[in-house]
Amino acid sequence: MAQPLYPVPEAWAEGALIDAEGYARRHAASLADPDGFWREEAGRIDWIKPFTQVRTTSFHEADFGIRWFEDGTLNLSANALDRHLATRGDQVAILWEPDDPANPERRITYRELHEQVCRFANLLKQRGVGRGDRVTIYLPMVPEAAVAMLACARIGAVHSIVFAGFSPDALAGRIEDCESRIVLTTDEGLRGGKKVPLKANVDEALTRCPAVDTVIVLAHTGAGVPMVEGRDIDWAAAVARQSAECAPEEMGAEDPLFILYTSGSTGKPKGVLHTTGGYSVWASMTHQYVFDYRPGQIYWCAADIGWVTGHSYVVYGPLMNGATTVMFEGVPNFPDPSRFWQVVDKFGVEIFYGAPTALRALMREGDEWVKKTSRKSLRLLGSVGEPINPEAWAWYYDVVGEGRCPIVDTWWQTETGGVMISPLPGATDLKPGSATLPMFGVKPMLLDNDGTVIEGPGEGCLVIADSWPGQMRTVWGDHERFFQTYFTTFKGYYFTGDGCRRDADGYHWITGRIDDVINVSGHRMGTAEIESALVAHPKVAEAAVVGMPHEIKGQGIYAFVTCNAEVEPDDALRKELIQWVRHEIGPIATPDLIQFAPGLPKTRSGKIMRRILRKIGENDTSNLGDTSTLADPSVVDHLLANRPQLA
Ligand code: PRX
Repeated sequence: MAQPLYPVPEAWAEGALIDAEGYARRHAASLADPDGFWREEAGRIDWIKPFTQVRTTSFHEADFGIRWFEDGTLNLSANALDRHLATRGDQVAILWEPDDPANPERRITYRELHEQVCRFANLLKQRGVGRGDRVTIYLPMVPEAAVAMLACARIGAVHSIVFAGFSPDALAGRIEDCESRIVLTTDEGLRGGKKVPLKANVDEALTRCPAVDTVIVLAHTGAGVPMVEGRDIDWAAAVARQSAECAPEEMGAEDPLFILYTSGSTGKPKGVLHTTGGYSVWASMTHQYVFDYRPGQIYWCAADIGWVTGHSYVVYGPLMNGATTVMFEGVPNFPDPSRFWQVVDKFGVEIFYGAPTALRALMREGDEWVKKTSRKSLRLLGSVGEPINPEAWAWYYDVVGEGRCPIVDTWWQTETGGVMISPLPGATDLKPGSATLPMFGVKPMLLDNDGTVIEGPGEGCLVIADSWPGQMRTVWGDHERFFQTYFTTFKGYYFTGDGCRRDADGYHWITGRIDDVINVSGHRMGTAEIESALVAHPKVAEAAVVGMPHEIKGQGIYAFVTCNAEVEPDDALRKELIQWVRHEIGPIATPDLIQFAPGLPKTRSGKIMRRILRKIGENDTSNLGDTSTLADPSVVDHLLANRPQLA
């Protein structure tokens, strides 16, 4: 099938940092001589002590290990702040837009940000936080979240950000797993005009976490929240007493930088660990090349800092590159569906990076909301987190970008630290829906299920053949799980969990997860987590969760639930279970459909045949495959006859 091709616009081909020839040459060089390539690229970082060893990496069991720039030392906060003070101290570093447009924005220069980070770093030290200690950050999208991240990096503490939409239970699990003694939060969060009781959530979580001895609370909405004597500290008052000087710690390249929990196909969320040197090089390099970024340009990544995109492309990448980075507290449709584009006009945003789910939601509201704004400042658009369907791509390109802005569709993962497959705006002709070609140093490969390499065009399991600097280093506290999860499915390769098609031009088309992970509105969820939340309900005997197509969310959550024998399932129970899951995990895990089922399709050995449930979820029931091995094939007929539909 012929795909429409959008060639690199002439102006981009001429003025870009990297053109088509440069991309091809440097990508080839990065694979042919990785040591030479990365020695040079790592020069973008101010090292305290330069490294001599570029990399020691192996994906094989015998000598498994991933270390980059190992004997070098650096400090990431110094790279994001101090190095800019002489040249751009008075440039705005963070441009903050509040949830309610009636409230004032905040403009924080590099000098001011540096001072705030130093003060907060000193406060952390005063509370006994030092190198290697974990700090849990449960903050909404306020500039202080970036301050907290950079302050941790400055003193060598390891931050673990928990998305402020997660429940007290989810928060508690993450605090326990990384054994942090300190939690940072606000009185309340604010999103789309609604208040979120963050401090109350922390209080509830901490009933389970007695080891936490410090909670630093930022007064954000001004709601008076109860403070626990001796444990809870008022952010502003405590910071005001601190010195504005704090020397950055000299960190080893492989010292931990942050933990970020993410869902896998089994078990509890994993603490993905990133380290200092390789991550810094990767976040900075990918941000610069993918967005063709020049210092001082107004750049907006609309992701939340609770996800990896917020780490790498709201805070670390842009600040290392001397950006003015926009931080938005609100949501795309509040007070109305013009909001994104109003903010673009207000600040003169040149580069906008967002998620397909938001675009689909806005697209449905009609073009007028976009067209009544100017958007003339926009030059480049980005997409992240899930496949972008061609309709949403076309709308983004034609309506939002008025046909003049290339779209960089960036494929990557929490585990990869930064963008892995993406067009470069001055180098890559675009095909709507394709993440196109690999970043420097990345060698994607397709394997079929038995591990045979697929050459040329084809479809298979997406693996990466060799290490790159931004790769995660371990699962916090469980190195064996790291190896098992990513390096045993296909020996000697990093397995992404995604399926992918490669076309005759070598372009990559991500087809979605091939494990039991679903992607709901760009949020990654393990079906196992939702199942375990459901079975924790006293009336539920068994649950199986699969993804289903959803017009806006990309994938929705479809739960099959078998109740205990004495229970008569009804609509009231359905509502109760929905509330239950929201409370156990958070609103992002809200099931879209719950089907009560007297039985689930199982093999004679009692294993749920998820393949069949997935097909029912997808409403693709014409070919359910072989059901003869089921213990009771009639279960399937019952499920099909009673499949609920989305309202
Ligand atoms: O399935 C892929 C999908 O999101 C997964 C990673 O999710 P997470 O770790 O939460 O990181 C999201 C932000 C980087 C991937 O395994 N995904 C991410 N970007 C794309 C994508 N699928 C298709 N196209 C993309 N551009």
